[in-house]
Amino acid sequence: MGSFFRNQDTRSRSTKDSTSCLPWIEKYRPKSLNNISAQEETLITLNHFKDSLPHMLFYGPPGTGKTSTILALARELFGSELMKSRVLELNASHERGISVIRERVKNYARNKCPGFKIIILDEADSLTKDAQEALRRIIEKYSELTRFCLICNQVSCIIPALKSRCTLFRFKSIGTENMRNRLSYICEQEGINYYSEALDELIKDSQGDLRKAITWLNNASKLHKNDRVTVDTIKETVGIVPDDIINDLIESAASKSYDKIQETVSNVIASGYFGKQIIEQVFFQVLQDLRFSENHKCNIGESIGIVDKRLVDGGSEFFQVLSLMCKISENMN
Ligand SMILES: Nc1ncnc2c1ncn2[C@@H]1O[C@H](COP(=O)(O)OP(=O)(O)OP(=O)(O)O)[C@@H](O)[C@H]1O
Ligand SMILES: [Mg+2]
Repeated sequence: MGSFFRNQDTRSRSTKDSTSCLPWIEKYRPKSLNNISAQEETLITLNHFKDSLPHMLFYGPPGTGKTSTILALARELFGSELMKSRVLELNASHERGISVIRERVKNYARNKCPGFKIIILDEADSLTKDAQEALRRIIEKYSELTRFCLICNQVSCIIPALKSRCTLFRFKSIGTENMRNRLSYICEQEGINYYSEALDELIKDSQGDLRKAITWLNNASKLHKNDRVTVDTIKETVGIVPDDIINDLIESAASKSYDKIQETVSNVIASGYFGKQIIEQVFFQVLQDLRFSENHKCNIGESIGIVDKRLVDGGSEFFQVLSLMCKISENMN
């Protein structure tokens, strides 16, 4: 039987302060660099730079601590109060054009203050090329007064001229042990009972994204309140498609009957499962199925990439899963 933490007594003892109604991702956002999990090299380097902060570019997958790290660093440098006037945080995916760089960023960057200020440009990979060019000049001109921290997932979307003005910090996906430590710490703080297999499932499904894992844990704890969190609760929360439904999809492809494929896909979509989740699980199953040659798997892998992009761009879930299943049917012995 899996191990579990704490009982109801602990739940009632858990701290009831002003943060108790916050979503857990905010409640457990690290307040200091010491509380950031997993990014050891980055933290060592940042601690060395504290006295003479360079311009920085943080990049890496979602939910790995980029935004939390710069906010924690700013809090350590300025303190919570002063931080309000010394840090400008902009989300470039909302304000991605050149005008915001020329107006808000430039105006803030050139203001004098004792020491320096920090401008955080989160999701900088959404900035247009013109905006990035304009930013390059502003960074240079106001370096004395302002340090910039650009944050992005896709470093390839940042122009070389900006990259070369910044010290680059790569954030890695959060590994299993760090993930488990953080999640069990949160369970302990919240007095949540859980089977250890439930945490294993959460870690597997969140694929190194701690934000996802914490959000799902938060939701799972509400789903069957007061019950111990089980693997099934996690699967339900995450929206994992049951194995028999994935098998039905693969077998419909094996039947080589278009009508059968369309009917099966239509039923699965009508059950409310996400297209992205379906295609990921179908692909995983294909990889283990001996009816597919190496060549077939390569063809299907290529199609998954295309379907995934179309889904991100807002394509119809039904048509995208259908097109993938037709491709799988074509590539099956
Ligand atoms: N390395 C980490 N250490 C501790 N908590 C983390 C870490 N990474 C993520 N978290 C948790 O996930 C939440 C989101 O993290 P954060 O906003 O820093 O991610 P991010 O890397 O900026 O993601 P994105 O690229 O999607 O903006 C945090 O509030 C925190 O609860
Ligand atoms: Mg972020």
